[in-house]
Amino acid sequence: GTHDPFIQAIPKVELHVHIEGLITPELRWKFSQRNGMTLTHPRTGSVFRTLEELQESTEDGMKPAHGGRQDNAEETLSFFESYYGGFEVLKTKQDYYDLAMYYFERAARMNVRYAEVFFDPQGHTRTGVGWEVMMGGFGEAQREAEKRLHVKSAWIMCFLRDLPPESAMQHYLAALPYRGMIVGIGLDSNEVDRPPVLFEEVFARARADGFRITAHCDVGKSYPLEHIHQTATAIGGTGADRIDHGLNAASSPETVEMIREKGIGMTVCPWSYIRHQPLDEVFKRIRTLFDAGIKMAIASDDPAFMEDTWISENLRVVRKYCKFTDEEMVKLARDAVEMSWAPEGVKKEIL
Ligand code: HPA
Ligand code: ZN
Repeated sequence: GTHDPFIQAIPKVELHVHIEGLITPELRWKFSQRNGMTLTHPRTGSVFRTLEELQESTEDGMKPAHGGRQDNAEETLSFFESYYGGFEVLKTKQDYYDLAMYYFERAARMNVRYAEVFFDPQGHTRTGVGWEVMMGGFGEAQREAEKRLHVKSAWIMCFLRDLPPESAMQHYLAALPYRGMIVGIGLDSNEVDRPPVLFEEVFARARADGFRITAHCDVGKSYPLEHIHQTATAIGGTGADRIDHGLNAASSPETVEMIREKGIGMTVCPWSYIRHQPLDEVFKRIRTLFDAGIKMAIASDDPAFMEDTWISENLRVVRKYCKFTDEEMVKLARDAVEMSWAPEGVKKEIL
């Protein structure tokens, strides 16, 4: 996007980005080539023979909300089909290292000083990848980024809510040897009929073990407000530390007040919403939550699926459409620092 010196200069904290949401068709192609893999369409089984064929079929985020593509609609993959397709090409520790460095290099250029990055371990173990490959590659990149790029980070392990709670618990236990890298536990993937309390056992265990807690609520669509209520008040015993998305809260003054009163921060990723919802509605809701005094961190979610929009583009778009003043932009940046789960010393360095 176009360069904006004011936004560039803000020292940034990124609290909502999926490492797997960075996998563009180009990266997928590169990894598949070097791993000697053939990529196929998950429903038709047809082979993608070229990068162009892969690009053609990949959901690019913006198309469905704006009339959809008219040609070969049944060949076009949904967001989740495209997203999980990206996992298939990650095989080696080098792949995990390269993917994480791709994030950290980009983050450094955007003046991101600290990031809490989501990863979905269940999506990796089901393609046969071992924990040491995944966490080993992530960990090496994390250390390299801190040393060479001055970007500090921690990982948030998300459970796929469309899989059984037992799988979440198995993965939680398997991750414990890597707990030094992991600051929190999250919940993502397809929200339909999957309320957060289904995963209470693992959330409660995680809280008891000292992890922070967050959960995705109503990404793009309006799922029941009940999911936001459970996240804010119930999971982990007394409710999560943060809510990811949850813009639908703005439709209920009582919910807004409850979130504010509990001091729960929300991560807000505008480019994720404007692929599903009308622009003015999205920014009105963000304004409502901000004006109510809820802390929020503007973030990027899945840049590869949203026309290559990263934290800076998300900051730019809220500034423009919410008409945030420079002071309000600074408040947003400080909220992100305060909402983060970084050590106090790291927060002080950034503020
Ligand atoms: N929605 C839900 N889960 C996700 C997403 C999303 O957009 N991206 C990565 N995990
Ligand atoms: Zn997300």
